Amino acid sequence: MLATLKGEACQSPPFWLMRQAGRYLPEYRELRAKAGSFLDLCYNPEFATEVTLQPIRRYGMDAAILFSDILVVPHALGQPLDYLEGEGPKLDPVRSAGELKRLSTANFHDRLAPVYETVRRLSKALPPEVTLIGFAGSPWTVATYMVEGGGSKEFAHIKTWAYKDPVGFGALIDLLVDVTADYLIAQIDAGAETVQLFDSWAGVLPVGAFRRYVIEPTRRIVAKIKAKHPNTPVIGFPRGAGLLYEDYVTEAGVDAVGLDTTVPPVWAARNLQTRLPVQGNLDPILLVAGGEAQRKAVDEILEALAGRPFVFNLGHGITQQTPPEHVAALAKQIKAWPERG
Ligand code: CP3
Repeated sequence: MLATLKGEACQSPPFWLMRQAGRYLPEYRELRAKAGSFLDLCYNPEFATEVTLQPIRRYGMDAAILFSDILVVPHALGQPLDYLEGEGPKLDPVRSAGELKRLSTANFHDRLAPVYETVRRLSKALPPEVTLIGFAGSPWTVATYMVEGGGSKEFAHIKTWAYKDPVGFGALIDLLVDVTADYLIAQIDAGAETVQLFDSWAGVLPVGAFRRYVIEPTRRIVAKIKAKHPNTPVIGFPRGAGLLYEDYVTEAGVDAVGLDTTVPPVWAARNLQTRLPVQGNLDPILLVAGGEAQRKAVDEILEALAGRPFVFNLGHGITQQTPPEHVAALAKQIKAWPERG
């Protein structure tokens, strides 16, 4: 996995799956119930370590991703956060320069100490051939949850603020650039071998705002990480970037790029993979459907992208309804490549 991220090609590509630890696994549901709340699970190094390792034991992925959530960053800045059953995250929204003053970096690393401890434990527990991935949400995506107060369809509050008051909103993005870079550097110091920036809502912005709030903050975070850890690869995942994927890979400074489900693999081979390693992009719902549809789609992706620097993954996170045996079939097919599944 690390060699691939540094530009080497493997015949049989490395693989991991976004959200590979989670509710589709019965052993996750068991520990989640023991931990109490989802946040209790994220802040319990013993449980978070165990949950990270669960999918590796079952399926032998080439990489383990730290078990945590992108919203621990606003939580560590003092923004109240809760996860409601079936509704997702809820935060007390921050919608103006005045409300920004409620946030503070004073206890940031102390609050995240359990996450760093989880990374240290994982770094010891994992066999050397399994790469440990740290992660954070990108400033834009984290800001959508902070400003909207949770998930959103229209992103009306955050876009209105960004368009009407770019200076005030810019202060939130600047704050997130600084703390996100510090947070990722601390994960690398604790043993993360690569880091991924999840920009799940990159795709809702028009071009000017995409440059300002997706590409530019990513570029600044990557530069800060590289100043301290020049050899640690950074993976960017600008979900939904569409036609702007090319600008993102040439300008953001990332070492590898995650493709969302809608990017045609053959197009990515021609236009992105010639510049950097790519990762992706099976539709997670194909992993729910399984069978012939899944097998054929996996083959098409491998056909287009394997043999050059490529990490097999999904185009977005695994869903709760995924039958664990479909993941087993996927792992078997990737490991057998270039023999056809
Ligand atoms: O990939 C992994 O296995 C590592 C863990 C991980 C989680 N969230 C665990 C989680 C990672 C990398 C994330 C990233 C994340 N979190 C993103 C970016 C990727 C994406 O999916 O777009 C986003 C937007 C979030 C914010 C978030 N966290 C939402 C919207 C939700 C609710 C939706 C849901 O699936 O319940 C969460 C909760 C969450 N994060 C769960 C898990 C396993 C489910 C919580 C539970 O167990 O009750």
